Amino acid sequence: NLNTETELIGKQEVLPLYQPREKFSHKGSFGHALIIGGSYGKIGAVTLASRAALSSGVGLVTAFVPKCGYVPLQSSFPEAMVITDKEEECISDISFEIEPTAIGIGVGIGTHDKTIAAFEAFLKANTKPLVIDADGLNILSKKKALLKLLPEQTVLTPHPRELERLVGTWKDDFDKLEKTKAFSKKYNVIVIIKGANTITVFQDKYYVNTTGNPGLATAGTGDVLTGVITGLITQGYQPLVASIFGVYLHGKSADIILQDYGYQSLIASHVIEGLGEAYIDLF
Ligand code: APR
Ligand code: MG
Repeated sequence: NLNTETELIGKQEVLPLYQPREKFSHKGSFGHALIIGGSYGKIGAVTLASRAALSSGVGLVTAFVPKCGYVPLQSSFPEAMVITDKEEECISDISFEIEPTAIGIGVGIGTHDKTIAAFEAFLKANTKPLVIDADGLNILSKKKALLKLLPEQTVLTPHPRELERLVGTWKDDFDKLEKTKAFSKKYNVIVIIKGANTITVFQDKYYVNTTGNPGLATAGTGDVLTGVITGLITQGYQPLVASIFGVYLHGKSADIILQDYGYQSLIASHVIEGLGEAYIDLF
């Protein structure tokens, strides 16, 4: 397309985006990420996203989950703090006293009527930078009026089916990109089209990622990406930079750990473990 600039994103492009750590930094320097999501049987999605946020470098992470998420989160992820909804099995009222730096919402959250109402009330009150994924996106697709409530440069991370619900069906790949670009402009949001060559769409630019491999085609890797991007925004990266850098690091981690697990045995938890090497590989 002649009107849209396309940039391939590899190590040369992300290196200048990296923010080095100062010697006298403390955990308060790296912000507090909040991950909101989960429902009965899908607490793992929140665990993965929260762990990924912490391993991306944030100082503090809190998970907001229905009551049934309390024990699994606290016992499998001791570094996290946990706040629970008043409902046992799904989120029904998103209220909290903490002041997070950025929020990731939607993983495993489900589409119960109570949850949709809570999500709507949350968007009306929220002023923090947002990353929205999974059923959070499906709720936006059902209630398109909610899109007007999003903070500018909110990051949306749809897989192909979630994207189709948001922007409508497309004739071909070109049409898909054009529709996504129009949607991104209309609502002033960053849209990350996930898949084999993940493309971040914002204003008149397509950023095409060059890392990642089919080992990522496994449960929960999208939840990990949500955590990484939320974590980068929490650390002070601008949402577009966090999107491009986050997609790169997530794919790079998968490329590095592929040597140990192969395409078949690579799982989402390994992608979190590989983030450290993905950072180290930059230098
Ligand atoms: N090559 C490179 N990367 C890939 C490939 C591939 N062939 N296939 C998938 N990926 C990457 C995507 O780019 C994305 O980052 O793996 C990730 C998959 O994310 P999702 O499709 O969201 O998968 P998942 O984490 O399992 O989602 C969990 O949330 O979105 C809902 O319907 C989804 O119920 C599911 C849940
Ligand atoms: Mg997903």
